[in-house]
Amino acid sequence: MPPAAPAPDLFVVLGATGDLMERKLFPALYAISGPKGGEGARPLRVLGASRRAWKDEDFRAYAVTSLVQGKVASSAEARRWADASVAFHSFGDDPNAGIATLARRIADEEKAYGLSGNRVLYLALPAEAFPPTIAALGAASLSKGPGWTRFVIEKPFGRDLESAEALNALIHRWFEEPCVYRIDHYLGKETVQNLLVFRFANMLFESVWNRDRIEQVEITVAEDLGLENRAAYYDETGALRDMVQSHLTQLLTLTAMEVPTNLEADQVRNEKVKVLRSLEPIRNEDIVYGQYGAGRTGGLPVPGYLEEPGVRPGSPTETFVALRLRVSNWRWHGIPFYLRTGKRLPEKLTRITVRFREPPVWFFGQGDARTVTANRLAITLQPDEGFSLGIEIKRPGHEIRLETHELHFLYSEAFGPLSDGYQTLILDILRGDQTLFVRADEVEEAWRVFSGVLSNPPKVERYAAGSWGPAASDALLLEDGHTWSPP
Ligand code: BG6
Repeated sequence: MPPAAPAPDLFVVLGATGDLMERKLFPALYAISGPKGGEGARPLRVLGASRRAWKDEDFRAYAVTSLVQGKVASSAEARRWADASVAFHSFGDDPNAGIATLARRIADEEKAYGLSGNRVLYLALPAEAFPPTIAALGAASLSKGPGWTRFVIEKPFGRDLESAEALNALIHRWFEEPCVYRIDHYLGKETVQNLLVFRFANMLFESVWNRDRIEQVEITVAEDLGLENRAAYYDETGALRDMVQSHLTQLLTLTAMEVPTNLEADQVRNEKVKVLRSLEPIRNEDIVYGQYGAGRTGGLPVPGYLEEPGVRPGSPTETFVALRLRVSNWRWHGIPFYLRTGKRLPEKLTRITVRFREPPVWFFGQGDARTVTANRLAITLQPDEGFSLGIEIKRPGHEIRLETHELHFLYSEAFGPLSDGYQTLILDILRGDQTLFVRADEVEEAWRVFSGVLSNPPKVERYAAGSWGPAASDALLLEDGHTWSPP
């Protein structure tokens, strides 16, 4: 007899009528529990919850639209899945009373559908709703269930060190750290995970990954998009909180960390925390803020930030940050890490560029012929995932003349399209693997790094939409005799 299928786990999303559910969570949940069920497939029952007065049927229709528009399933497949596996609970405006009704609904679902008793509680709510909802989950005894309970929380995790500490303290009143999953969706990207493999499975790179051989490291996370109807959130948040403290800092730690003892979640996260603790304080001259004015992206005219609907008149919010960080440890002392991110830049590009040192003695030609291009490794995390390594080559001919050529690797050529990071992260939550989630002390250390900047922010420089940010961003590197790498 074939083994009986395992009982489904329950996946509860609070804030399930929002955009994240439609764009990311439905497709990922369908990929895991739908009929195509690839790697890691497992049965799930999805219970969406929010304040809206929706019925099961409304939420199922929302699921079908998401899957069909996302080209994840045909409408018949999506409908079958939604009817069999998706339900909705409206918890109204009062979190305490509402979450108590949710607790009863969860118990009813588990009984009616023979579920495993294992629960994921996923908070996809606006940040101001986190504290009352967490307290209400605790008060309704939802922090412990008949099986395991895993608590997942989206970013932003606080607005500064104090609010992050307070949020951690509140979470820990009810949920122990081993069942808390703080999401930074960059950690789910294949290419971000590949950083560890790239560094620690290839001696070739690891043996030169230090201050003796590397001159500078750049991390660029550029977006051509503007606000995408998120002015209410973004205008209160800005690029430092939205991108730098989370995604760029994660990329920095993975680039700079020491080799962990093994791949267990805490070993990896210990090493990341050590990097954060080694960062030198950021001085005012290390950071540039920018805000886009009108310009052009993708060949079309676009308005400036202050003209975007929903932005406060005269808002000082930064849409661009360039930053010099120094990791003061044995491996990296003295080497600048330049981080840069912005909205309305010329293109979408996430790339880590490692510039190696020039040869100490140069004997190929003299005077004007003495041109050298230091080896440059560009790891592109999106959109053309892969890497290229610039190598100096002798041009054929009698004279010794050098040219830079690149060795390329492209994920799409080797493996086809990559899966969305949310699928990876949700599978890890279901398996109980916290490696790709941010630990409490890690998120606090990441805020600590930026405390000084948040309390004394630099002046905001203007840049035209469609440019690479304010001139001061180039000047920041020029001070050190460096430049941003060409895209
Ligand atoms: C989110 C930010 O965390 O990341 C957005 O809130 C940003 O402002 C987005 O656009 C970028 O993510 P990705 O995966 O498109 O690089």
